[in-house]
Amino acid sequence: MKENVLLQVHQLSKSFGGVHAIQGVSFHVHAREIVAVIGPNGAGKTTLFNVITGILRPTSGSIVFKGVSVVGKKPFQLAQLGMTRTFQNLQVFGNMTVIENVMVGLHTRLKTGIFSAGFRLPRVSKEEKQALEQAFACLRQVGIEHLAFEKADILPYGMQRLVELARAAASNPSLILLDEPMAGLNPQESNKLVEVLLEMRSNGMTFLFVEHDMETVMSIADRIIVLDYGKKIAEGSPEEIAQHPDVIKAYLGEEEVI
Ligand SMILES: Nc1ncnc2c1ncn2[C@@H]1O[C@H](COP(=O)(O)OP(=O)(O)OP(=O)(O)O)[C@@H](O)[C@H]1O
Ligand SMILES: [Mg+2]
Repeated sequence: MKENVLLQVHQLSKSFGGVHAIQGVSFHVHAREIVAVIGPNGAGKTTLFNVITGILRPTSGSIVFKGVSVVGKKPFQLAQLGMTRTFQNLQVFGNMTVIENVMVGLHTRLKTGIFSAGFRLPRVSKEEKQALEQAFACLRQVGIEHLAFEKADILPYGMQRLVELARAAASNPSLILLDEPMAGLNPQESNKLVEVLLEMRSNGMTFLFVEHDMETVMSIADRIIVLDYGKKIAEGSPEEIAQHPDVIKAYLGEEEVI
């Protein structure tokens, strides 16, 4: 395996009874790449993410992350190895503050739980102080440090998406998987998120993301993987994918991509 390959998926399949949600999908992600997964509704994109992130066990195939086989590992073990994700449906704790939401994501990095009973012990409070500093650093990365002590549910939807991203960043990952990060965002909010993702990538982060918003996909993806009925039907640069006849047919009807 090449040294800078971060994630290698080989012949991955997942069936639910008779539904073959993913069938023999292979691809890789290099460190610091932004790779998009696209495809029509029901193509298997979320299932692919659930299998890669340890929520579902594959029916067959291999997943190697940082040179380690990760099939059978649980999401928290993957987080410890440096892989984390956000979900298709927003998952923010509305009754908690922004900073508390981010601190939830820190638990894989802490020796003692931040909400442990021994809260007053000097060692723990030092660790808690460090946790706060780390959480602030994550908020800075996504540009919402000023909202740290706001309750999450009073924020606009786009800001809540950034809270979710900051929480994902809190586990100090090398790879973040995002399932439809732009869904429900207005144009200003998506522009902001694109800016944040590109900034995080320039600081060394790698992203694999599912997205329906083709403008975003075309503007930030280095490479695009296209799924249809659980199979990979194409892979290439945005330019290659935009002109790929199978993609135009399967994903966009007969319309042009751009
Ligand atoms: N837990 C499950 N049990 C049974 N079938 C499932 C399950 N999860 C997904 N499927 C089926 O697998 C197929 C792929 O679904 P998946 O959610 O992965 O698609 P998707 O590409 O993410 O779609 P969307 O664009 O709508 O989010 C669909 O036919 C779906 O009904
Ligand atoms: Mg999905």
